[in-house]
Amino acid sequence: MSYDLVFIGPPGAGKGTQSQRLCQHLGVPQVSTGDMLREARAAGTELGKKADEYMKTGQLVPDELVIDLVDERLRRSDAEKGFVLDGFPRTVHQAEVLGRLLMKLSRGLNHVVLLEVPDALIIDRITNRRVGESTGQIYNLKYDPPPAPDRGIGGERLLQRDDDREDVVKKRLAAYAAQTAPLIAFYANKGLLRRVDGVGTVDEVTGRLLNSVGV
Ligand code: AP5
Repeated sequence: MSYDLVFIGPPGAGKGTQSQRLCQHLGVPQVSTGDMLREARAAGTELGKKADEYMKTGQLVPDELVIDLVDERLRRSDAEKGFVLDGFPRTVHQAEVLGRLLMKLSRGLNHVVLLEVPDALIIDRITNRRVGESTGQIYNLKYDPPPAPDRGIGGERLLQRDDDREDVVKKRLAAYAAQTAPLIAFYANKGLLRRVDGVGTVDEVTGRLLNSVGV
């Protein structure tokens, strides 16, 4: 049986941090549409160029740009045992398409985790976020610092995302409230929603998360 899981939650709630940990625990791939879109932007592909104008202004990219990415990714052999979807679906339309895609593959979601964090904490977390350039490891200068914050790990450069400026974060929060929050009722109605309190240390949240999904 596969272990198919979705993370939803506002920007900066800790979806990436916790899904990296859960994937290590379960031995399944993390599928982050944000990371895939950032890779496409860095590579300068047509998709990346189209996504760029939305991402830098804090808007969701159009559904059709992400759906094909996810469809292709979930059909790869390493996702046969399961996956953790981080940041997809983000609209009710994306959720409906995902349901049809999984049905075609004769599988279905086991859990949808909602990481809950109040807006006031989010700006603080996001503006202090740094990401390892080569490892993709997520750090926080205040709450989860790398061992050598001024130099990075073993000389690895730490990057700050261009959409982590406070004015853009406010737009991302508004997009979440308008377009993604309706997924909470959508998945609650299907009996799949697991609410996890995202306030606390990273380890505390991981403990709650593992309990909520029964692993
Ligand atoms: P995406 O990359 O998915 O961004 P997001 O959902 O806004 O989420 P973040 O990555 O900002 O936060 P996170 O919840 O993963 O938090 P993290 O673990 O890093 O999307 C970016 C853009 O791409 C979107 O705006 C959109 O344009 C586009 N996009 C992507 N997917 C799309 C889709 N499906 N449809 C349409 N458009 C799409 O943690 C944040 C910080 O907090 C870190 O510094 C971390 O170290 C720290 N932290 C984590 N946990 C804790 C804790 N417990 N205590 C203290 N600090 C903590």
